[in-house]
Order: sequence, then C-alpha cells, then structure tokens
Amino acid sequence: MAQIITPAFPRTRLRRLKQSESLRCMVRETALTPSDFIWPVFVQAGKNDVSDVPSMPGVQRHTVDRLPALARDAADLGIPAICIFPYTDPALKTAGCEEAWNPDNLSNQAIRAIKDAVPDIAVMTDIALDPYNINGHDGIVRDGVIVNDETVDALVRMGQAQAAAGADILGPSDMMDGRIGALRDMLEAEGYSNVSILSYAAKYASAFYGPFRDAVGAAGALVGDKKTYQMDPANSDEALRLVQRDLQEGADMVMVKPGMAYLDICRRVKDAFGAPTFAYQVSGEYAMLQAAAANGWLDGEAVMMESLIAFKRAGCDGILTYFAPTAARLLQ
Ligand code: PBG
Repeated sequence: MAQIITPAFPRTRLRRLKQSESLRCMVRETALTPSDFIWPVFVQAGKNDVSDVPSMPGVQRHTVDRLPALARDAADLGIPAICIFPYTDPALKTAGCEEAWNPDNLSNQAIRAIKDAVPDIAVMTDIALDPYNINGHDGIVRDGVIVNDETVDALVRMGQAQAAAGADILGPSDMMDGRIGALRDMLEAEGYSNVSILSYAAKYASAFYGPFRDAVGAAGALVGDKKTYQMDPANSDEALRLVQRDLQEGADMVMVKPGMAYLDICRRVKDAFGAPTFAYQVSGEYAMLQAAAANGWLDGEAVMMESLIAFKRAGCDGILTYFAPTAARLLQ
C-alpha cells in the first residue's frame, strides 16, 4: 500500500466525509450483497415437515420436498448457493459410516431435489463422516484413534456420491490430511472435472459449533473432542500452511471457520494467497446474536449486518451464514 498522506489538523478533518449518507457511501470501502452469501440448510427425513432447532432460534430443519421452494426463494433473493446438512436418523449411524456414500441418503436426495427444481442455484455439500458415525467423529475411529487414510478413502466415496447426485461444490469439513488431493483426483477420473472444492482449510476445534451438533443430531454421539484433527484456536501460521497445502492439492476455494473470532485469519489468508476465501459464521455465532436480540440486549438486525460486513472488510469473498435469507431480504 502507498504511504497514507494526512496533512495536520485543521487541513485534515476526517469528519468532513462523514457529514451525510451520500458522502459516507461515496467513500465506503466494502459492500455486502446477497451474492456474498452461502445459505446452510438442515434437512430431515419425512414428508412436508419442519422442526425447529431450539439452540438456533429462527432456523429449522426441512424435509426434502420443501427444499425446492426454499431454493427458489433463495435464488430469487440473489443468494447464489445453498449448503446441505442432513440430520441423520441415529439408527443409520455405524462405526463404518456406510450411510455417508449411500446414493439415496438424505443429503443426496436433497441435492437432486434442488438441482432438478432450481438448476440456477449452486448446491454445496459437507464432506465429513460425523453425521453417519456412531462415534460422532468426522473420521473413522479405531481403538480410540481417528484414522486418517482409511477416512480419506471413505470421504472420496462420499464425495463421489454427492457429485453423482449433482452437487456443484464439495465442502470437505473433516480436516483429514490428503483429502483434497484425493477428492480432486476422483473428480477428474470420474468425469466431474467441473465440480469445485471449497475446502474447510482452516477449521478450528471450536466450542462455537455446539448448536450445529444439536441441529444435525451429532451432539449426543460425540465421544471426546476433535482436537486431533481440527486446529488449535491459539494458532495462526498453521492456518496458512493448511490453506497453502489445500490450494496445492487442488482446492478451488478455501474457508476459515468459525468466522467472527477468526477475522485475523481471514485477512492473513486473503493477503497471502489471493484465492477465493470464505468464512463460516457458525451456529454458535448465530445463536449468540439471536439470543441477545431476543432479550432486547442488542439490536438484532443491526448486529447481523455489522457482523456480515466485517467479513467483507476482513477480505472474504463470501460468507456461509444462517442469516442469508434474512440479510438478503434486508439488502433488497
Ligand atoms: C461437520 C461440520 C461441523 C460444522 C460444519 N460441518 C461441526 C463440527 O465440525 O463439529 C459446524 C457448523 C456450525 O457450527 O454452524 N464436520
């Protein structure tokens, strides 16, 4: 950046350009639009049914038949992508996680339903074994150890089933080593060379995921924690190594997760690589803003918009956020 020249007061009065909304908007450095959003949607089994997620006020799980209408509304609001998260029946969870690559699992049904009805919205997936794992972990567990390479093989099968169902963007969120390269090789070999990968590259072992685990029914299942594969919140240089590694293995886009407490990481990643960079404003971030708003302690709309523009200011190209439809409606 060039040197900033600021003559001394009163030649410089930084308040001059704040005097009216017209002046303020002339010098506004970033903008938020509905095209910045990826909307995470929870899916449940059944017919024409919804259920509330108690720890995420305003968020619901929907049956597959309701998704085309939701996707249509989102596309009409200018939201370019939806990300599918399935609530899996506990009876379908196994140690081998076989349901993850069932071509007719809930997630793959959802992908097909949306792509058939609303082809113009991009469908993103989640690749990790936790919804299907009797142990609640993102990887296969053997003798208490989350085994890496065997998990990568399972993730590739899972990703292949999602690509076959019509997914546009695969979202590996598992944090195993080597999964991006393995998924990219599979996509090239199987004729899905235009399917892109948005890697959850810098994903922290965060307590902000609590409400999400309720939403997908993984909270009860999880044995232990995810610290042997997700990042230590104390680390920052490691995020750059992970992002670089995933880009080198063939990720098209990268993600930092959670969002608000990790905006420094977003900025470093964007500055270091200039790659399409996304942040996930996760369930706990959504829950805390909604809870404070419900109590009248914060102005809900104002903090929602302020939190979202912060991601743009930090260098992000887009945001996965449960606020997507609400914020998009406000922006229209
Ligand atoms: C699954 C996954 C998680 C989230 C997205 N994908 C939870 C986890 O890693 O435990 C969290 C999303 C949120 O909290 O909104 N691997």
